[in-house]
Amino acid sequence: MGETVTITDDQSGRSVKVPIGPDGTIPSAALRELDPGLRVYDPAFVSTASCASSITYVDGDRGILRYRGYPIEQLAEQSSYLEVAYLLLHGELPDKGQFEAWRHEISIHTYVHENVKHFMQQFHYDAHPMGILVSTVAALSTFYPDAKRIFDRDVRAKQIVRLIAKMPTLAAFAHRFSVGMPFVYPDNSLDYTSNFLSMMWRVAEPRFEVDPVLARALDLLFILHADHEQNCSTTAMRIVASSHADPYSAAAAAAAALYGPLHGGANEAVIQMLERIGSVDRVPAFIDEVKRGESRLMGFGHRVYKNYDPRARIIKRTADEVFAVVGSNPLLDIALALEEVALSDDYFIERRLYPNVDFYSGMIYQAAGFPREMFTVLFAIPRTAGWLAHWVELLSDPSQRIARPRQQYVGPSERDYVGLEAR
Ligand code: CMC
Repeated sequence: MGETVTITDDQSGRSVKVPIGPDGTIPSAALRELDPGLRVYDPAFVSTASCASSITYVDGDRGILRYRGYPIEQLAEQSSYLEVAYLLLHGELPDKGQFEAWRHEISIHTYVHENVKHFMQQFHYDAHPMGILVSTVAALSTFYPDAKRIFDRDVRAKQIVRLIAKMPTLAAFAHRFSVGMPFVYPDNSLDYTSNFLSMMWRVAEPRFEVDPVLARALDLLFILHADHEQNCSTTAMRIVASSHADPYSAAAAAAAALYGPLHGGANEAVIQMLERIGSVDRVPAFIDEVKRGESRLMGFGHRVYKNYDPRARIIKRTADEVFAVVGSNPLLDIALALEEVALSDDYFIERRLYPNVDFYSGMIYQAAGFPREMFTVLFAIPRTAGWLAHWVELLSDPSQRIARPRQQYVGPSERDYVGLEAR
């Protein structure tokens, strides 16, 4: 790639030489220099960089993912979710003192106001936990009106701690409500992930005994899901936050975006798909259905990765560890067969479709006993750190203004109103 690109308006003959910035971007303002009426038409932002960010690096062609420069493989192997959340939010790994203070702050903010609990108990008996989560995160803004002071650093830091600390509580409460079980309050003597598992599963025992392999596997999945640069939900977070809405309202919008089956809802859709296929011998017929455009191979394909998603590779390894503890998931054989057929089929090779993060994560969640409706909730808990890191970055970036895309108007030209009786 050269250092500049020259754009010529063939009508006026005028040219503008534009510098190519980091990551191959050119400022769209250059077009306005040529002609103030010129705009880029880019539905779904396929070639548009909407911000400069120093949080997460993805190289989709080479299958690389780094948080603040650290390879995801190293973080997955050696770090913990809380440490990664700190890294995403602060830009650097914490030293021992910083980590202890961070861990302590999070652990003393895990409780929710009793009225939040009452609010959650008013949903319909079969409400989807993700719907409950989206609404309750939005409702938190009414409990913390101070959160509106988004340019006060201390206030901002407080909301960050609150959101990261309370997401597992809200997630577990949403589950307990949906199965009619009493809510289990946080146990702040447990680590972040074990506390979540305790709130999910504890029944009458005085202290929940967490299986260390399951707790570690879940923590690792949290690390892998913590951020993924400008994905749909993070973009929703940034767009809503750009109007200076409070972080709970913005995070609720982000969670709503995550809910969709093309984004965080895909892990749930993968299990539905595998169950529908039913057995290994029906895999080829399903692949044909996908190639005819009648179905989508859920958990495959990605806007950015045109190579094996590095998170899927790590998750596949973790699945073996979890299955060794809880017994294999019968859907695994179908998934492995599906992957093998897809990776050797021209349809998928030509389109560079590989397994993404959601292909195997649902199977781990299912084997660990989580109901399918909780899968996207399990994605929302860790992604909260990413959403908040982008929120802070957005508010600190002087080049950001309220997000307001332009459009290509293709509707009718001016016409006169006709009264109802004359229509
Ligand atoms: N199964 C079958 N064909 C596919 C798939 C798939 N999963 N994904 C893409 N294609 C085809 C698509 O039909 C198109 O073919 P053609 O060129 O003949 O029209 C081509 O591949 C390009 O696809 P696209 O829809 O233009 O790609 P996109 O970048 O707009 O969509 C995606 C990306 C993730 C929404 C899509 O691949 C998809 O729907 N995958 C299944 C859902 C899924 O697993 N989502 C989780 C994504 S990773 C985690 C997250 O973001 O939450």
